[in-house]
Amino acid sequence: MRHFVSVAQLSTDEIFSILESAEAYRFGVKPLQEQLFAANLFFEPSTRTKSSFMVAQRKLGLEVLDFCTEQSSVQKGETLYDTVKTFEAIGANLLVVRHHDDHWYDDLLPHLSIPIINAGAGSGEHPTQCMLDLLTIYQEFGSFYNLNVVIAGDIQHSRVARSNAYALERLGANVYLSAASGFEDSTLGFPYISMDEAVEIGDVMMLLRIQHERHHANYQSTTTYLNDYGLTMARERTMKDHAIILHPAPINRGVEIDSELVECERSRIFKQMQNGVYVRMALMLKLLKEWGLS
Ligand code: CP
Repeated sequence: MRHFVSVAQLSTDEIFSILESAEAYRFGVKPLQEQLFAANLFFEPSTRTKSSFMVAQRKLGLEVLDFCTEQSSVQKGETLYDTVKTFEAIGANLLVVRHHDDHWYDDLLPHLSIPIINAGAGSGEHPTQCMLDLLTIYQEFGSFYNLNVVIAGDIQHSRVARSNAYALERLGANVYLSAASGFEDSTLGFPYISMDEAVEIGDVMMLLRIQHERHHANYQSTTTYLNDYGLTMARERTMKDHAIILHPAPINRGVEIDSELVECERSRIFKQMQNGVYVRMALMLKLLKEWGLS
């Protein structure tokens, strides 16, 4: 694996191997000895992904180059391609990119001599989020086989839904989707169920926020959304005893989930964020090894 842009690139053995490495890195890692530079090029806002990549990079001993689109030559019209080639030219050894284009990496990869990681591609894929979600489920259940995982929310605009649904199916989980009218994506090929059905059968409830920034019109009022499509306190009480709640965040409290459930006993939302650091350490180390850099 020269770059990491989609979970589809990984065999199931590789997925498990990365999860095992990430689990081990919770207890520390020997930092790299050679001076290596990483840059995080985020063309869309981020709190968790960017910061957890930075923590992961520092734990690995990588030097993190500063980049912020607002203070960069992107403001003078510089393209993603030229920005990436610039960081490669000045000595970055690894790049992490988030961009609004679903396929921003297609034209870039053939022209790169350093590894690049997809930290979110429009409504396309968010593979490192998927890997941290997988780690969180694996820690809980020790397996994916026959687990009922419900992905609920704005499926059509969610890169998290796309990455997770296919990966979970490949690992043996039963994937169900739940969405308000207009938020479905029939191309995904998984069955849709209501939230009332979802809480009854789900072992894992993966909630997603409404991606307003990707909507052409604000066609879904949020006034009754929680009651109609979200995880209310009443629905949570009907969940299986062992069932857990995931959410990639940011959360719109009171819209897709009742605010009081965000930190309830079933919630693994902040655990997911912690796991993001370890999974990203594992992925970056794997790539650096494959490029002969560690
Ligand atoms: N989950 C996620 O991608 O969060 P950020 O947008 O804050 O990075």
